Amino acid sequence: MSISRLSINSSGFYKDAIGDSGVGNEEIQALSPQLDGLRKKIKQWRESDEVNFLNLPDKTDLDTIEHIGRKCTRMFKHTIVFGIGGSSLGAEMLSRTLGHRAPRNRVKFYDNIDPRTLSELDEVVWADTLCMVISKSGNTAETLSQFLTVLPRMERYLGDIGLREHVIVITENPDGALYKIAQQLGIEPIPHPPVGGRFSVLTAVGLLPAYISGVDVSGVMEGARAMAERCAENDILENPAFHNGAAQYLHAEKGRTISVFMPYADNLRLVVNWYRQLWAESLGKVDAQGRHRGMTPMENHGVTDQHSQLQLMLDGPDDKIVTFIANPGVRHEGRRIPMRFQELPAVAPLAGHTLGELFISELKATRETLSRRGRPNRTFGLYDRDAYAIGELIMLLEMETVVVAELMGIDPFDQPAVEESKVLTRKYLADLVHVEF
Ligand code: PA5
Repeated sequence: MSISRLSINSSGFYKDAIGDSGVGNEEIQALSPQLDGLRKKIKQWRESDEVNFLNLPDKTDLDTIEHIGRKCTRMFKHTIVFGIGGSSLGAEMLSRTLGHRAPRNRVKFYDNIDPRTLSELDEVVWADTLCMVISKSGNTAETLSQFLTVLPRMERYLGDIGLREHVIVITENPDGALYKIAQQLGIEPIPHPPVGGRFSVLTAVGLLPAYISGVDVSGVMEGARAMAERCAENDILENPAFHNGAAQYLHAEKGRTISVFMPYADNLRLVVNWYRQLWAESLGKVDAQGRHRGMTPMENHGVTDQHSQLQLMLDGPDDKIVTFIANPGVRHEGRRIPMRFQELPAVAPLAGHTLGELFISELKATRETLSRRGRPNRTFGLYDRDAYAIGELIMLLEMETVVVAELMGIDPFDQPAVEESKVLTRKYLADLVHVEF
């Protein structure tokens, strides 16, 4: 088994570190039989010829993705990605976390339809710009509207043949509007594999924009593969997803239903953005007994939110668990704070230290203050811009989600309730009187 580059310190979930509010190994082990059904599913998923989120590191055709990506990098200076939810968040996470700082091709993600933001698309120079349109269903109102509103301008500047070279469509559903539009425009869609949007980051959906941004996508996949292997372990205490998922479930049962993710690294903020969707949309469900299940993901930034949210996390309701993510290497980075003004009491402790040392010290202090008050926390450590470790983290968080769903008795792969608001949007649009000026 390969050596992990993601350090997982979950001790702050335990009684030893945080007193009686923590969980114990016995409680975790008592949940083990409830995971037998999942153990069987994991075995099937791993052995299956059909694609599922767990076997993506082996099933995704990385060669083709890299081949298309190389061509796009050579041909274009800019890439615009239209997509929303799972059709955007994973790709943006990889690109912003691991992408090249000065890529040959700059990738920009549009996952909203604010008309003011989208008006900047009027300035795009299509001659050197690629447009990627990603939608699994192919019927998503936001993505279709984004593409359809830029299409006339693209056609005008590029012509029919140019358009085909400048547009990539990723979609699954041949009956969906995007598939049909692509066909009418003479564009051959890249197939979206049969995995849910929020579990699709390790497919072309996440990896193609990431490759164009300069991400080492093979490294991401190697890390994910290694973590998938570790998450197939039967022993609940040895399997990181079983162990961490069970601990989080137990904390939720004790009323801690808010999961705070707190990265101490600006470039890891997008990981939290991706995780929020995964956790919220997968776990927020009604179970067979009609109980409303789920845990609310919350995003805090270290150190910024120490001056905004920390007081609540320390003295407010005991309804949260906290996951820190940090890059231990940052300690050696950054300018040294000068010795000048060290006679001032507020400057004295800072003088001579690097900004990275201050960053890490603040993380340790925040963690310890939480632990002293019995507030559960854990820490993921990964070295900066390490594609392998991010791959491990992605697979771990996906598997943890599946474990918590199993314990809560819900299906993590559907999202039955959001359809209602989509239907209503279409109704309100139909009701609007269209006024021509
Ligand atoms: O995770 C999911 O399935 C959703 O969040 C979808 O990704 C999101 O609704 C976008 O759907 P689509 O890819 O069909 O446009």
